[in-house]
Amino acid sequence: MTTTTGLLGPLTSPYSLAGLDLRTRFVMAPMTRFRSPGGVPTADVAAYYRRRAESGIGLIVTEGVPVGHRSATHETTVPRMTAGAAEAGWRRVTSEVHEAGGRIAAQLWHLGSEREPVDGYPSWTPATMSTANIDVIVGSFAESARVAVRAGFDAVEIHGAHGYLLDEFLWPRTNRRTDRYGADRAAFPAEVVRAVRAELPQQMPLIVRFSQFKERDYSARIASSPTELASLLTPLVSAGADVLHASQRRFWEPAFDGSPLNLAGWAKEITGLPTITVGSVGLSRTFPVSAQMDRLVAGLTGGEYDLVALGRILLGNPDWVRLADDGRFDEIHDYHKSHEDTYF
Ligand SMILES: Cc1cc2nc3c(=O)[nH]c(=O)nc-3n(C[C@H](O)[C@H](O)[C@H](O)COP(=O)(O)O)c2cc1C
Repeated sequence: MTTTTGLLGPLTSPYSLAGLDLRTRFVMAPMTRFRSPGGVPTADVAAYYRRRAESGIGLIVTEGVPVGHRSATHETTVPRMTAGAAEAGWRRVTSEVHEAGGRIAAQLWHLGSEREPVDGYPSWTPATMSTANIDVIVGSFAESARVAVRAGFDAVEIHGAHGYLLDEFLWPRTNRRTDRYGADRAAFPAEVVRAVRAELPQQMPLIVRFSQFKERDYSARIASSPTELASLLTPLVSAGADVLHASQRRFWEPAFDGSPLNLAGWAKEITGLPTITVGSVGLSRTFPVSAQMDRLVAGLTGGEYDLVALGRILLGNPDWVRLADDGRFDEIHDYHKSHEDTYF
């Protein structure tokens, strides 16, 4: 399914993302699933991603994968990006996705203050991190990027969204530092981008995901104007980001007053980079014949964004792209009926 003949129209057209050839404009959004005991992705995890690749997703972004440093997470069933068993598990995942004709990016993650203190080991935040700690975490992202390259990933995405560590530096409410990491809120995320970029082959895209909202505060904003957004994104681009993934809860919502552009649209307007939009795409059963579909396609063809990520709808419908493109609406499951207790 690589033509533009079905209901999804130009969303199924191929695209070259910073040199990486994708079959369609659809991205699988990163979604934590807690299915990797001891931090090691299992055969089930490989099959889960393979099924999404088989149905015409152009690029899969893995669930958030904490970097190796022990401050990155307290979770024991999220997969890690570390050498050894986890790397071998990821190699199986990337092979299966490639066999199915797909492409896959690893999302590298540090939970910041969302990491629960375990065994007396504290969670790290902008308020508590020394510059030495910052250097350590930059190094940990770089090390995990090295592992991702060895494991066969096609791209790396840095998780700079939703209130986790890097986003806590971008957000003025949590970054109250008085040193250079406070004066320039993008400084630490940009150091991570630069260090990761240095580990990737030249042709491998580096994606940065960012958001205004936080998981614990949907009204939060890292930028209250396009100018402020530019001050945060420009250093990330200078440091080597190739693609920006603008996380919104509803893709059709304007990012700022006075313009219909969504967050991905503003990111593209500011930086000129390719962007990924996301947020409640496909959640109504007849989405391909809806006003929201018209809005989505208008944004794509008008150059507001280049790729479209699907989250919840893919959990219960690994083959949503094919079913929706063919208009087989009766076979599409509502996302909320299936997404936590099934894993297939
Ligand atoms: C179960 C679940 C887990 C998620 N885990 C992550 C994650 O690990 N990293 C991330 O950046 N976003 C995560 N998200 C957010 C999704 O990537 C996506 O942005 C969000 O679900 C909105 O897209 P949707 O409306 O198509 O579901 C998660 C969402 C869900 C539903």
